[in-house]
Amino acid sequence: MNELNAIVDGARAAFGQASTPADLENAKAVYLGKSGRITELMKGLAALAVDEKKSRGAAINQAKQAIEAALVARREGLAEAELLAQLHAESLDVSLPGRRRVAGGLHPVSLSSERIEAIFGSMGFEVAQGPEIEADWFNFTALNTPEDHPARSMHDTFYVEGGTANAPNLLRTHTSPVQIRHAVQHVKKYRHLIDAGQAMPEIRVVVPGRCYRVDSDATHSPMFHQVEGLWVGENISFKDLKVIYLDFIQSFFETKDLDIRFRPSFFPFTEPSAEIDIMFGAGPLKGRWLEVSGSGQVHPNVVRNMGLDPERYIGFAFGSGIDRLTMLRYGVDDLRLFFDGDLRFLSQFQ
Ligand code: PHE
Repeated sequence: MNELNAIVDGARAAFGQASTPADLENAKAVYLGKSGRITELMKGLAALAVDEKKSRGAAINQAKQAIEAALVARREGLAEAELLAQLHAESLDVSLPGRRRVAGGLHPVSLSSERIEAIFGSMGFEVAQGPEIEADWFNFTALNTPEDHPARSMHDTFYVEGGTANAPNLLRTHTSPVQIRHAVQHVKKYRHLIDAGQAMPEIRVVVPGRCYRVDSDATHSPMFHQVEGLWVGENISFKDLKVIYLDFIQSFFETKDLDIRFRPSFFPFTEPSAEIDIMFGAGPLKGRWLEVSGSGQVHPNVVRNMGLDPERYIGFAFGSGIDRLTMLRYGVDDLRLFFDGDLRFLSQFQ
């Protein structure tokens, strides 16, 4: 009897020490398994006399039941402890402040684009878009820059594989190709008026968008933004360009204390051509000429590629860097900040 009591006590102690269900199953095997202590005692019964067998068998059974009860109790205990631990780990502190959804906002370059569209919209300009993977024809050839023209090398072009004369084969280096795309559509629409010698509604369009060149430093990014402007009609002059651009740039920077100048330059698709510089009369940039745009009178060859007669139609175009305008407007000195995706920087514009 004492021996049985000792076994039961041993089992209880072993079960009590098991701290995981796996430990408990191992401890169970020691007592109730195939060659466990109780099983071995049962096997020993065979050698006893009949009445001894009876009493001894009953005692062993009792011990076995006691061990089984201890096992069940410990199993429940472990399961409960596990549940408690889980509840504790996943508990909610309802007194903590909730996680708010942060309001998103537009990127500073997008804010500038929208601003530019709104200003030119108020002057009667449409907004057009074009593909970023462009055909050689629209990006260069139609803009009076034939295949062997040295000005092509001024654009550090990303060429893509494939491409035929009219198929996309490069990442556009400027938004100027949309001049041609838009003008051709416009001319198609009003062909009947033009052919009848009547006045065609003027082409007045701005084209904001992404451009690509192999170029990267504090003021150049391989991907950048330009806004192209185009105005074509029967009686447009450089004077109109100056008035429009001055009006635009003063609205953009919200100051009348801002001057512009045209500096002779070269673009294959305009003749004459000029860089547009601006100068603030006050503020941190006061008194310095800053280049913000290329411009010029649309070259007769380009007018022809639009499907118009250069003897009758004339116009101007400009292409301004939106990133540069945005840097000047917000006083940002490194262009790369715009494209690093750092919310600490970007959230300041909201
Ligand atoms: N596309 C020219 C550039 O990227 C800018 C430009 C546009 C110049 C329109 C003249 C007229 O450099």
